[in-house]
Amino acid sequence: MSKLWGGRFAQSPEEWVDEFNASIGFDQELVMEDLQGSIAHVTMLGECGILTADEVAQIQEGLAGLTEKAIKGELSFSVANEDIHLNLEHMLIQEIGQVGGKLHTGRSRNDQVATDMHLYLKKRVEEIQLLIRSVQKALLKQASEHIETVAPGYTHLQRAQPISFAHHLLAYFWMLERDYGRFEDSMKRIDLSPLGAGALAGTTFPIDRYRSAELLGFANIYENSMDAVSDRDFIIEFLSNASMTIMHLSRFAEEMIIWSSQEFQFIELADAFSTGSSIMPQKKNPDMAELVRGKTGRVFGHLMSLLTVLKGLPLAYNKDMQEDKEGMFDTVHTLLGSLKIFAGMVDTMKIKTERLEQAVNEDFSNATELADYLAAKGVPFRQAHEIVGKLVLACINKGIYLKDLSLDELQEAASVIEADIYEVLTPFQAVKRRESAGGTGFTQVKKQLDKAQEILSAV
Ligand code: ARG
Repeated sequence: MSKLWGGRFAQSPEEWVDEFNASIGFDQELVMEDLQGSIAHVTMLGECGILTADEVAQIQEGLAGLTEKAIKGELSFSVANEDIHLNLEHMLIQEIGQVGGKLHTGRSRNDQVATDMHLYLKKRVEEIQLLIRSVQKALLKQASEHIETVAPGYTHLQRAQPISFAHHLLAYFWMLERDYGRFEDSMKRIDLSPLGAGALAGTTFPIDRYRSAELLGFANIYENSMDAVSDRDFIIEFLSNASMTIMHLSRFAEEMIIWSSQEFQFIELADAFSTGSSIMPQKKNPDMAELVRGKTGRVFGHLMSLLTVLKGLPLAYNKDMQEDKEGMFDTVHTLLGSLKIFAGMVDTMKIKTERLEQAVNEDFSNATELADYLAAKGVPFRQAHEIVGKLVLACINKGIYLKDLSLDELQEAASVIEADIYEVLTPFQAVKRRESAGGTGFTQVKKQLDKAQEILSAV
């Protein structure tokens, strides 16, 4: 089969060389965007008087036919035609004859492929944002039911201070909120049209780049044709934002795995998001959470990979840049899949309220309360810290908790202690009294929930 660029060549590459060169195996994912870009381009060519109305009508009809076939999955691509752009152009010429060859007037595959990827990411980032919202929604649902569920809060994975379980869940709400914002912000750089930049230098045809951008729904065009065809930083930015998001999901996944272990038993994941063992009949494994945690590896990898591909590349287009696609596609699918799983997993997880309360009652995470109590009564905090530390040690040696100490014992350690200390030492009070802005106090958590709710209802 002769190549669309074959004029200058006396010999065609061998099949196995074609295979190495071709991107059609993966860039067919851009089929819709490529057709959309071509339709806008030819419309603009007609409006600018570069092609006749009749030529434009024939090409548009041909492209409409290909679009229909693409929707039905009836297009069959060939490696000999290298990539999605040449495959579609070849098909167009087959369908409507040589007039189809006029479509490529005033453009190059270099601006074409960049346009396709901008269109693709614009759509996919919106889908990702919607799914971020559904994870946030599930978090909000669970949080609103667990404002007064007191649970152990950790640092170094050691019991630290009691918290409202809603507070813990809402921490993830805000992480995802920033992720959402990062994607939103990146839209400014995705929403740009490279179309009409040509191979690198623009074109002598009197094209209207603003018009094709408008037809494609882009907010603006690239100001510099060389930048337009060389830029992949919008993809790197996407991969970076995706990495951040999946890193957050992975932390949450890790907590879900720990929380659902026999040792913790803080939550139970729904059967629908768990799997069994082929040998151990009792097992219920948190595979989905583990997979999300594991999938961070490939997403981070794609980010490093594209940064490395681009590093040191001279302007303008180089074939190295064909390596930008698989990682981008894989990241889109991985992130969409992970967010979807998370929305369902969070929505259906069972939070074991009693178990959380039992856990928080059987530890020393109220030690700060006692130290603060002494400090409020005038004992310098450093000294209070020392007194309570010694009491904790004494309790550990006796196998009891601070609340089990008698008033006499407490007063022996610090005479300012009164009977009201027992109320102060309850985990419920420890949480309730933390009313500093953004703290875990119930009133603060309610405020936080309202703000989160506002964000979600604004969309
Ligand atoms: N398949 C190519 C890519 O993905 C399209 C651009 C090819 N341009 C070229 N001058 N060979 O990068």
